[in-house]
Amino acid sequence: MNPADIASWISDAQKAFSAASDLDSLKAARLAHTGDKAPISLASRGLGSLSPEEKASAGKMIGDAKAEITKALAAATEKLEIARDAKVLLEEVVDITLPVQRTHRGGLHPISIIKNEISDFFIEQGYAVEEGPELESGWLNFDALNIPADHPARTMQDTFFIEPVDSGVVLRTHTSPVQIRTMLTQEPPIYVICPGRTFRADELDATHSPVFHQVEGLVVDKGITMAHLKGTLDNFARHMFGPDVTTRLRPSFFPFTEPSAEVDVFFNNRWIEWGGCGMVNPKVLATCGIDTDVYTGFAFGMGLERTLMVRHGITDMHEIVEGDLRFTRQFGVGL
Ligand code: DAH
Repeated sequence: MNPADIASWISDAQKAFSAASDLDSLKAARLAHTGDKAPISLASRGLGSLSPEEKASAGKMIGDAKAEITKALAAATEKLEIARDAKVLLEEVVDITLPVQRTHRGGLHPISIIKNEISDFFIEQGYAVEEGPELESGWLNFDALNIPADHPARTMQDTFFIEPVDSGVVLRTHTSPVQIRTMLTQEPPIYVICPGRTFRADELDATHSPVFHQVEGLVVDKGITMAHLKGTLDNFARHMFGPDVTTRLRPSFFPFTEPSAEVDVFFNNRWIEWGGCGMVNPKVLATCGIDTDVYTGFAFGMGLERTLMVRHGITDMHEIVEGDLRFTRQFGVGL
């Protein structure tokens, strides 16, 4: 082992490291010049057979040489890592100026959002949600609800009749027929709400639409009184309009309730008519086979469009029916 050999091992290693063009070829050079079979490693292992004096000077030379080789390796590694990182930055660059494909996420219409909100509120209290068909028999839509044959609501001006007219089928004018369907098929106690689409022969204007939505409430149980109705409406109103809202009942008339009332809410400093309500007319209970000596009930019905318009200060029905995304998006997606 002479100094010239050792110097050539160092320079061979330095040349190989600096010739490596990437980290893979540097790894091969590292194994060749520092691995088990590299000349410097073999020399290092041969130190054991030398005499103590020779061992000291040869050991120092080999140690220094190893340090040189390690330094060259570290320098080459750093250089190639920097080159690799720069390449990655270039190759994996994202062009943020490319046009993107914007697919809008669908959302629920505000009427569906408010319908779900109302359903959730009543479901939490143990009510069930019932739905009925939009094409309804005149008997369920009118007669069973004690609406007489000569009632003005039954004329051509108000109701969409389905041809042939003697089929007796109408587009339901309210959600109240779902009360009848429920009482005909279920035994009390009954606690249901019936949200749905309703139809009347009205022109579309700022406050009317021929297609609109209502939610009906119906409770039939032992000992139900008007106080239960008032309490239920108060809670419902507070849920829809805010914790400070109060309701008031005004005497009114509906053929299917006795007594009947209009329910108003005190919202934004004024009384606003919200819907109709009352104690289910015993005639209607009897039509549905419910024992009026045992059971009483209350019912209410309100418009979803009206509820939405009052709550959000919407002044034109067109906004609700036209489906302009600039309007509907303000209510969120509701999913
Ligand atoms: N059905 C009525 C309407 O369309 C609303 C209504 C009033 C429903 C009183 C009820 C009620 O259940 O008790 O105008």
